[in-house]
Amino acid sequence: MITLALSKGRIFEETVPLLRAAGIEVLDDPERSRKLILATNQPEVRVVIVRATDVPTYVQYGGADVGVTGLDTLIEHGADWGGGAGLYQPLDLGIAKCRVSVAVRADFDYASAVRQGSRLRVATKYVNIAREFFAAKGVHVDLIKLYGSMELAPLTGLADAIVDLVSTGNTLKANQLVEVERIMDISSRLVVNQAALKLKQQAIRGVIDAFAAATKGTSA
Ligand code: PRP
Repeated sequence: MITLALSKGRIFEETVPLLRAAGIEVLDDPERSRKLILATNQPEVRVVIVRATDVPTYVQYGGADVGVTGLDTLIEHGADWGGGAGLYQPLDLGIAKCRVSVAVRADFDYASAVRQGSRLRVATKYVNIAREFFAAKGVHVDLIKLYGSMELAPLTGLADAIVDLVSTGNTLKANQLVEVERIMDISSRLVVNQAALKLKQQAIRGVIDAFAAATKGTSA
């Protein structure tokens, strides 16, 4: 049995076509069903639905053999868990593409604040990515950890800036925020539990190869 960890939303939706191309049909829709373990048309493959930030944890500790997770989540996980030992990252799937950026209120003079060496208050879910980015620029920051709705932070005075995912830019625009720096490009990665790769080598290689074949064309 191969267990694949996915999160609901964009990652699930964009992984389904890759699975389909690999001949795997998920038999339930996680948006409609409350089930957390979803069967597929392949008796030896099942999907578990976990929180996006828990995908690397499930795969690292063997709760799932393989998983699909954003590079953002993977970097934050690695920084918190000592580099993600036990996690093998064989493929960039080229899906769920977006970027991690710094955004501020349209009336906030970010360039001057950075130039003058002010201490910036930055709210984010991505504290490790943000810490490293601002440290490399030599900008002093006070990081405020949030778990969602980061866009609210500059609007309510909680922070000067946010570090968040930007895809279309619509969320920033709807909240009168502007993107001032692009930190990194993001896409989703296939991650594999290293022990499972040894113990179930043939089956997991099959899954990796099928994803690789299905991914051709989506990857940059
Ligand atoms: C992300 C991010 C932004 C939004 C950006 O949230 O936090 O809010 O997408 O997308 P856009 O540029 O296309 O508007 P997501 O929907 O992934 O959910 P989250 O709030 O759980 O992070």
